[in-house]
This record gives sequence, structure tokens and C-alpha cells, in this order.
Amino acid sequence: MAERDYDAIVLGAGGAGLMAAATAGQAGARVLVIDHAEKPGKKILISGGGRCNFTNTGTGPENFLSENPHFAKSALSRYTQWDFLALVERHGIAWHEKTLGQLFCDGSARQIVAMLMEECRKGGVEVRLSTPIGEIGHADGRFRVAGARAAALVIATGGPSIPKMGATGVAYDIARRFGLGLVTPRPALVPFTLGEGDADLKAIPGVAFPAVARVGNVSFEEAALFTHRGLSGPAILQVSSYWTPGDEVSLRVLPDALSRLREARREMPRAQLKAALARLLPARLAEALAARIGLSRELANASDADLEAAAGVLSALRLAPTGTEGYAKAEVTAGGISTAALSSRTMEARDVPGLYAIGEAVDVTGWLGGYNFQWAWSSGVAAGLAIAERARTA
Ligand code: FDA
Repeated sequence: MAERDYDAIVLGAGGAGLMAAATAGQAGARVLVIDHAEKPGKKILISGGGRCNFTNTGTGPENFLSENPHFAKSALSRYTQWDFLALVERHGIAWHEKTLGQLFCDGSARQIVAMLMEECRKGGVEVRLSTPIGEIGHADGRFRVAGARAAALVIATGGPSIPKMGATGVAYDIARRFGLGLVTPRPALVPFTLGEGDADLKAIPGVAFPAVARVGNVSFEEAALFTHRGLSGPAILQVSSYWTPGDEVSLRVLPDALSRLREARREMPRAQLKAALARLLPARLAEALAARIGLSRELANASDADLEAAAGVLSALRLAPTGTEGYAKAEVTAGGISTAALSSRTMEARDVPGLYAIGEAVDVTGWLGGYNFQWAWSSGVAAGLAIAERARTA
């Protein structure tokens, strides 16, 4: 069968790939998208509890992890959260801000996938689903994939988080094949597992509370949650991206703990610590922490030093995760194709003309809260514009 010619072949019909394809197509390039999944944008569909937290109004480079913290600046500033929001509004998709600048569809994440597919249609993009990538050929400045040929190839196959959704590490195989460096991938935005030393806390699954979670000098103030296996909730997922094995996680369970314990000693002197904490925290958490603190006297008989020790635990509950729940539960993959190998303006590989990498496949990882999709959109547009420019000048 004769090979079909395109200006670009985009590997992956996720957020980044569809955005790049639509952008390039609408700017005049002939684009083919290939994906092994039976439908496009599967992660978009399950995101944000089915409502897709599609961006964050506060997006800036400081909301991303990367070996090069400057890399994301160019793409994020050229296609911003406001640009994406304008696109959403042009498509008549109703949205709302939930909290902390996080924007969600009022209706369904399916609207975002439909919008991206409509944008691809407008750009004349061909989307081939249920199609394995197979062998990639590269000769005479052309890439060959699945019976198609193009001067540009875009790696937009994401990372290996949630393999049961069809996620794979193929982006890293392709990067290695073309000599692009990798920053060791790791699960991020992922729950922690706790060991036997913290069995008392695993015994209160489902207990959620506002907390400040800290790993090293990074901290996030949001909800935390104990689970059968360990620790989850937004504050925990956020710090997990900064965690390396062996690191301790500390949780501020109660703000102003010392002054609140002193107040409790004044107001309820005959009470035990457990009863005082139950007025400030969920009952099961109060019980577990009181047992951990081990202060068995009535509060009236507790010394200042006793209260200071208790406040120390409540201000920085020290936990030693045994690990994370891994790629099976990780919302994203941190690390990936090294930004050192790519142009921050175009996402093109410095040493392989025509090869681009975008989205989660790249070593740029956003916080929880719509940042990862914004990176998919921004990096996708950067590559899409560059591909169209390449096609025009070819
Ligand atoms: P993405 O993974 O979306 O797309 C890659 C595509 O490549 C897929 O279509 C896949 O089928 C295809 N592919 C992979 N391997 C292949 C192979 N070997 N051959 C052919 N095709 C292959 N972010 C956010 O900002 N807001 C949110 O609300 C959420 N919510 C959320 C919930 C859950 C449960 C998860 C797992 C993740 C999120 N995220 C999120 C993160 C967000 O989904 C993620 O960062 C983006 O989808 C990344 O977009 P990409 O296009 O880079 O990869």
C-alpha cells in the first residue's frame, strides 16, 4: 500500500496531541493523529470527577516541577489559561470555578473532548484510533509510522500513569530511540502507603480534615485523608510530587495547637485530651491522636511541657510513608523527556529536526488543580504553530 504523506504525524489523541493537531491543521498543515485507544481523550473523560478541571486561573511557571523550572514559561505565556477559557466559551461550554482558581465544566468532560475533536475537524485533521504505533522509520528527514509519512513527528503519548486506561511509557522508548535524554519518571499526585508504625492512622480510613502537608521545604494547605493503605487527599497528592523515598511527611493537623490546648485546659479542666481534641477535630482522628500523644491525665493536671509536647504532634504529625500507590493510582507522571533536549519555544528536539514532544511525556509536571491540562494545551499549541510554520516553509 502506498504511504500517505502528511506534514505531521501526532502520536497520541490526548489533550496535548489533539491541541497540537488542531492548531497545526487550522494553520494549514496536513495532520494525522494516531492512538491505540478506541476513543480520543480518555483521560480528559475521567478527569475532575467527570467534569474536567480544564485549567487554573492562577497558572504560572511556579506551579510546575521540572529539572528546568524556566522551561514552561515560554509556552505558558504564549497560550494562557485565558486563551483556553476563551476557546471553551466560544464552544458555549458552561463552566464554574470550584476553589483555588480551578475551572470545571458545569456539564461533562465529554464537552472538552467534543470541542477538541471539532477543532481538529475544522483543521482537516485525520484521527486514526485503535491504531498501534508499531515501528517508527526515520530517513531522509521523514518519519514513517503506520503507513504514513511526514516531516514532523509529535510525541504526545503521555506518561505511564493509570495503565488500565491504556497509558504506556512508549514516549520514553521513542525518546531513547532518537537519543533524547530522560529524567527518571516517577508517579506523582499519588497517595502514600503507610507501614505498621502508622497502623493507628490506617485504622481510621475515610477521616478527612484540613491540613498543611509538608515534605522538605514544600507545603500545601488543603484537605488530607487517611485510607486503608495510608494517606491521600489534595494536600497529600500535592506534596507527593516532591517526595522521594525515605522522606518524612509532616502534617499540621491543628493550627495554633498550643494556644488551643491551653484554652481547653482553662475551659474544661476535668476533661481528658481526647475530649478536648474531639471539639477541634473529627472524633476518630481526635481519639487516634490522643492515643498517640499518650497524655492520660486530666487537662488540669497537664503541665505546660505536656501541652507543648502534644501541640508539637498536632502541629507537625510526622509520618514515614513506606512508598506510594504507584502508577496504578498516580494522576500524573513526573519526570520524562528531558527539557534539555527540547526547544522551549517550539518543543522541537534540538538534535532531531522535525521531532517534537509535548504534554505529560515531557519533564514538566503541574500541581493538582488544572495545571497539567494547561500544560497540555500550551505545549500543544507551541508545537502546533511550529509545525505549521515548518510546513509553510518546506
Ligand atoms: P494523555 O495521557 O492524556 O494522552 C496520551 C494519549 O496517547 C492517550 O490517548 C493514549 O491512548 C495514547 N497512547 C499512549 N500510549 C500509546 C501507545 N503505545 N500507542 C498509541 N497510543 C498511545 N489534569 C488536570 O489538569 N485536571 C484534572 O482534572 C485532571 N484530572 C485527572 C484525573 C485522573 C484520574 C488522571 C489519571 C489524570 C488527571 N489529570 C488532570 C492529569 C491529565 O489527565 C494529564 O496530565 C493529561 O491528560 C496529559 O495529557 P497528554 O495529552 O500529555 O497525555
